[in-house]
Amino acid sequence: MAEKQDKNRVVIFDTTMRDGEQSPGATMTTYEKLQVAHQLARLKVDVIEAGFPFASPGDFEAVKLISQQVEGPCVAGLCRTAFPDIDRAWEAVKNASRNRLHTFIATSEIHMSKKLQMTPKQVVKAAVDAVKYCKERTDDVEFSCEDATRSEFDFLCEIVEKTIAAGATTINIPDTVGYTMPHEYEPLIRNLIKKIPNSGKAIFSVHCHNDLGLATANSIAALVGGARQVECTINGIGERAGNASLEEIVMALRTRRNLMNLHTGVETTEIYRSSRLVRRVTGIDVQPNKAIVGKNAFAHEAGIHQDGVLKDKRTYEIMDADSIGLSSSSLVLGKHSGRHAFSDKLSELGYELDRNDLNKAFFRFKELCDKKKEVSDWDIRSIIEDEVMQIPEKFHLESVNVMCGGRVKATAMIIMGVGEKLVEESAIGVGPIDAVYQCIRKITGEDIKLIDFSVKSVTGGIDALGEVTVQIAGPKGTVVSGRGASVDIVEAAAKAYITAINKLIFWRKAHKEKKPDSRSEHSTSKSKSGSAKISVK
Ligand code: KIV
Ligand code: ZN
Repeated sequence: MAEKQDKNRVVIFDTTMRDGEQSPGATMTTYEKLQVAHQLARLKVDVIEAGFPFASPGDFEAVKLISQQVEGPCVAGLCRTAFPDIDRAWEAVKNASRNRLHTFIATSEIHMSKKLQMTPKQVVKAAVDAVKYCKERTDDVEFSCEDATRSEFDFLCEIVEKTIAAGATTINIPDTVGYTMPHEYEPLIRNLIKKIPNSGKAIFSVHCHNDLGLATANSIAALVGGARQVECTINGIGERAGNASLEEIVMALRTRRNLMNLHTGVETTEIYRSSRLVRRVTGIDVQPNKAIVGKNAFAHEAGIHQDGVLKDKRTYEIMDADSIGLSSSSLVLGKHSGRHAFSDKLSELGYELDRNDLNKAFFRFKELCDKKKEVSDWDIRSIIEDEVMQIPEKFHLESVNVMCGGRVKATAMIIMGVGEKLVEESAIGVGPIDAVYQCIRKITGEDIKLIDFSVKSVTGGIDALGEVTVQIAGPKGTVVSGRGASVDIVEAAAKAYITAINKLIFWRKAHKEKKPDSRSEHSTSKSKSGSAKISVK
């Protein structure tokens, strides 16, 4: 890769769609993965790890589509060392203009003896054979020593030296269980590079998990130790406590370039949009105090801070909100704003919509203006992301009415579009949401377990948009999420549920899965549907 020539250039390897998707609830449809991949290309990451093709037909399809359609970054497919695994990954990435095979095997004593039940000698052979087999297909081969930070140093040296000799061009030293410390990881990387005679022929990479909250710190330490590729995810999503967060690493390198003199090729003004997109498609919210992309990351509450920032931003701000693409425009839209002002606002917020979506968005914007005096940037983002940029839908909401309160049994009446038809249904429930969800289940014929339901407001004020996120049980233990926004939270709740059902149907189609019968483990009786955790933020 060209990056190898610049010794201070850090390769950004994004694994949002592979390790990130392993977070509970982060299941993405193929269509959503494609949207994320296009956004990662705009963000200018170097490598997109698009999935683990052997894992499922859906993963395979997504990696293949991304390879065919996304220009710019190199597309990597993950595979274990078994040849059928590698064949499947190769089949998925071979059409990308730049592709990579990423093969891995565990190297720690506990993983080798208990999980793999292999001797160290067998592990070295499997790794070397796999790298050679990958190399017959592509020049760009990455080898990862899973659980490297709990592996014997001498064994790491041996396997890394042999896999480089076999043709690996990137060597990844993952902290799979989030166990290491910055002052331990930095010398580990430094010493590996020093001790391994052919280390100069490969780029050393790091991949950190956040079990002790140290993923970003460890990644930076490893870069200081000589690694030049970092594996990370948008919003830090990933297995258990997550992976190292891309935005934190990139902005740390940029903000402290004076200290480390390292740089990336990332277009940082795309960070905020990438974060919003991943938040929407995974249904995993970003905590308000999350570094870089949390809602409060650039907000100053204390009077003394506000006073300082007004005098000179640099008193309390080490980064500019504009540098991550968080524009602070004062142009607020309302009832009298026309299509032109609206479309200017969309460009300012960085959305490019086709004619159809622009019409849909403008219609929703006008609807909102009837209910709300001022429409903020947050409201507009919510309309666009949660309602317009959605997957092709089978069902949509036309109208919903509920009667509830006091002694009245909660009753809902709903009209939904099912393809070209309009269908009407009514139901009585233990509360208004239960009644609405019963109507939706009757119309869609989907008897689904609701796992989580949360409501929060997009902005302040009594006329604020309420945003509802739901998670429903998908096939094989997966979780599918949906989001809906409206000033009426019952309507937002209905939209969120319908979106999740549309996604589930889309997902089943992509994975060639059949709808389970109502007695299967994934569906539940109606009474169970009310057992979700409900949180209001
Ligand atoms: O955490 C890990 O070790 C991994 C490897 C497959 C790179 O995700
Ligand atoms: Zn991992």
